[in-house]
Amino acid sequence: MGPLDKEWPNFDAMPEAEVLTGTRPRGQKLARWVWWDGELREGDQLNVHYYANALHYGTAVFEGIRCYPSASGPVLVRLRDHVERLLVSARLYGMRVPFDAETLIRGAVELTRRNGIQNGYLRPLAYYGSGPIDLKPKRECLVHAFIAVRELGTFLGDDALRNGIRVMVSSWRKVHHSMLPTMAKASGHYANNVLAAHEALDHGFDDALLLNQDGTVASATGCNVFFVRDGELVTNDESSSIVPGITRDCVLDIAAEHGVKVTIRAFTREDLLRADEVFFTGTAAEVTPVRELDGVKLPTGKGTLGASFQRAYLRAVTGKDEERRAWLTPVNG
Ligand SMILES: Cc1ncc(COP(=O)(O)O)c(C=O)c1O
Repeated sequence: MGPLDKEWPNFDAMPEAEVLTGTRPRGQKLARWVWWDGELREGDQLNVHYYANALHYGTAVFEGIRCYPSASGPVLVRLRDHVERLLVSARLYGMRVPFDAETLIRGAVELTRRNGIQNGYLRPLAYYGSGPIDLKPKRECLVHAFIAVRELGTFLGDDALRNGIRVMVSSWRKVHHSMLPTMAKASGHYANNVLAAHEALDHGFDDALLLNQDGTVASATGCNVFFVRDGELVTNDESSSIVPGITRDCVLDIAAEHGVKVTIRAFTREDLLRADEVFFTGTAAEVTPVRELDGVKLPTGKGTLGASFQRAYLRAVTGKDEERRAWLTPVNG
C-alpha cells in the first residue's frame, strides 16, 4: 500500500496493454444472443407485449454491468453486487423475480461468453409483463427477466475520461426517497433523470446535476458525485436520495487503501463550486472528471486525485490490481 499514484493516466504514452481507451470499440453494437427468461435466444426474435405493465407504468428494475478485457480474458465487474442490487430493487416493487442470484450470475457469464464480448455493457432487466389495466401488477402480471449485452467503449467519449465534462445544475429537482424508493434502479424513476439530461442537452452541456428539494446535491443523471477539498474526499449517501453506486463503493475502497480522508455527508452546489476538483462515478461513465460546472472551471488531469482514482479504478477492473481480483468474474471459467 502506498500513496495514490499521482501520475496523470497518459493514455497515449502508456505501454500497449495499458491503452484502454484507444482499443475500445466505438459504437454500441447489440450482441446477437440474449439471456431471455432463462435461456439464450436470438435478440431479433424477441418481443415484449404492448400491454406489458412495465411499458405503461415504469414497473421494471434493471442493472448495468461492465465487461472489460483482461490478461486472462474478459471479466465482469462486481457481478454479484449488481445481481444482488437488482433483486433488492425488485423486492422494493413487490416483484418476485423467478430466478435466484446464482442463476442470473451464471446467465450473465454464459451470455457474455457466447457473444464473444470483450468491452461490453450488460443490461439485466426484470419487468412486469402484460395484464389487465391495473396498478397492482404484483397480483396479476407475470415477471419476466432478461440480460442483454452490447459493446461499449468509453460512454461519454475518450475526451471525457481525459479532459472532463461540462455540467449544469438542472432546474428539475430529484425525487425524494419519501416519494419513491430511490435506492432502487427502477425504470420509472429515470423519467426524472431523462428530463434533466434533456435539459443539459438543450443547453449544450454534457450532463446535469439534480439537486434535492432542500438544495443539497443528489446525483448526476446516471452517476454519483464526489468532490475534493484540501485533500479530503467528500460524497453523499442514500439519505440524499441517490442510488448508492457500486463504482462509488470501488472509489471509497481505493481511498481507504491509500489513506485518503473521506467524509460522507450531504453537500451543496456551493461546495462543488468552491471544490478543488469534482468527479463522477458510474459503471458506464467510470471515473469521469468534471471540468466545468455552470460556467465555473474546475481542474482535471495531472496531479488531481480524480485522475489517480480513475487510473486505479481502470487498473482494477482490467485485472491489473492483484488485491482487487475478487471484484472480477472471469467469463472463460
Ligand atoms: C442515477 C444513478 N446514480 C448512480 C449510478 C452509479 O451506479 P453504479 O456505480 O452502480 O453504476 C447510476 C448508474 O448505475 C445511476 O443511474
